[in-house]
Amino acid sequence: MRTTISLGGIVNAVVVDNRADRSVRARIRDNAPHSHYALERDDIAIELEAFRQVCLRVGRHRSWTVWESFGGSGWHTALIQKFVEPMRHAACDISSDCCSSICATCPSVRAMQIDFNDDPGSPCDWHHADFNLWTMQRLHDDQNFRASFARMFALAKELVTFTDTTPYEFQKHNAGVGPYSYWVEKVLKPSLGAFFGWDLAATYCWGPAAMHVLSRGTSAPYSFTEVKEPMRLETIDTTS
Ligand SMILES: C[S@@+](CC[C@H](N)C(=O)[O-])C[C@H]1O[C@@H](n2cnc3c(N)ncnc32)[C@H](O)[C@@H]1O
Repeated sequence: MRTTISLGGIVNAVVVDNRADRSVRARIRDNAPHSHYALERDDIAIELEAFRQVCLRVGRHRSWTVWESFGGSGWHTALIQKFVEPMRHAACDISSDCCSSICATCPSVRAMQIDFNDDPGSPCDWHHADFNLWTMQRLHDDQNFRASFARMFALAKELVTFTDTTPYEFQKHNAGVGPYSYWVEKVLKPSLGAFFGWDLAATYCWGPAAMHVLSRGTSAPYSFTEVKEPMRLETIDTTS
């Protein structure tokens, strides 16, 4: 099955799924390919709006080279292509289905099937990582993960953006965005500076996750933005 999706009417994304039957996607939600999972969940539309804002902030003022980890079905890839228009863009994921989806969505992007933990990376201007799970706790507990995370900062010249799923942990304990923003200011920001020497420039926060924007050597004022508006995301054509 091929599903053609319009991202806010601006980017056409083609999502390839060999499991075919969309009518059963509610039942296979937990193990569905990421493309279907994205269509099922309202919070993904809000996440896409947050990432659209990140891309607008990064902008086209220079010719970026981008290394993307956790490329998934290519929603972020498509937004980077649209709003940043990088000179070179590689997107990696552990899943071959996801790599096929990225190839179909953005043919000019180099899609690679790589486990983040074995990813040798490549020198780039911007490393973007849409982690499925990132918390300070994980960074603290898992030495391999910490090494891979550190590699991003070593190879990126200017910018690192990554997803933080800590808000989900806060939600589980009935704490809201307020405590999370305090935690970012008091714990995350100083830690990222101390461990990796980078400045936290902005955090875009929505339901269960947040996206951090880190820059090297700039003194951009830090901003914390709660994103609530979903991106318009519509299915325009489905054929079997
Ligand atoms: C949150 S989704 C990424 C969504 C993506 N940004 C998009 O726009 O579609 C996380 C992705 O991480 C991938 N993944 C999980 N563990 C991984 C690993 N160890 N190495 C690389 N990719 C991994 C999954 O296959 C999944 O596609």
